[in-house]
Amino acid sequence: MNDHCIGIFDSGVGGTSIWKEINALLPNENTIYLADSKNAPYGEKTSEAIVALSVKNTELLLSKGCKIVVVACNTATTNAIDYLRKNYDVPFIGIEPAIKPAALWSRSKTVGVLATKGTLSSSLFHSTSENHAQGIKVIEQVGTGLVPLIEQGKANTRETKQLLKTYLRPMLDAGIDYLVLGCTHYPYLVPVLRKLLPENVKIIDSGEAVARQTKSVLDKMGLLNTTKIVGSKRFYTNTDASILKSFLETVSDTEVRYLDF
Ligand code: SIN
Repeated sequence: MNDHCIGIFDSGVGGTSIWKEINALLPNENTIYLADSKNAPYGEKTSEAIVALSVKNTELLLSKGCKIVVVACNTATTNAIDYLRKNYDVPFIGIEPAIKPAALWSRSKTVGVLATKGTLSSSLFHSTSENHAQGIKVIEQVGTGLVPLIEQGKANTRETKQLLKTYLRPMLDAGIDYLVLGCTHYPYLVPVLRKLLPENVKIIDSGEAVARQTKSVLDKMGLLNTTKIVGSKRFYTNTDASILKSFLETVSDTEVRYLDF
């Protein structure tokens, strides 16, 4: 069982930001990544639709023998992780926006959260925000249109920059000093965000914390792969494989394949 894969899924290419953190921390683990780009963005779908897509992805990962499933998508986590945990025996790791550290470290007591409509309207997001950001002003912003641009490889374009400018304005006017990226696609916007944000505004995402949590859960369950051999890395996408490949350029020995799922 220990050499079984860590299964990771996302609505598309964004969860590769999480996969990279997991691979850096646990290089000897075998991993399978599913990019459900055909159905991106999840953030504009109903909760029922997001649960159904998450079930489909989970079943595929389980059919490949995964020992744990990382829901590398904030929208799928906030809408479907309770359902998945109730209905499947494997452990699930979800992505919570990093509101807790941002609230803890903010000097201006004002933080911005950029996320999808599906995440920001979920009850899980609201309880996280209420529990961890008491006394903090949280400026929420739906990032409509950003996920499709990233999926099309247009993260670093004028169009994206313009959209981000509009989304950041109310946050900057309110005096944020932390910007929480509440979508696993958004770390790919950091180069543009850095150009638009003043130096004192820090950007924070959940990637490293998710990798540490994955390791800790596997360790507690006695499921860590203790081999010294570098793990296999398999990536599946249900759209053009070259797009997913372009997000993995810096990673060697990857196998990226089209799969109809
Ligand atoms: C989306 O598919 O709309 C975004 C995925 C996420 O929330 O991480």
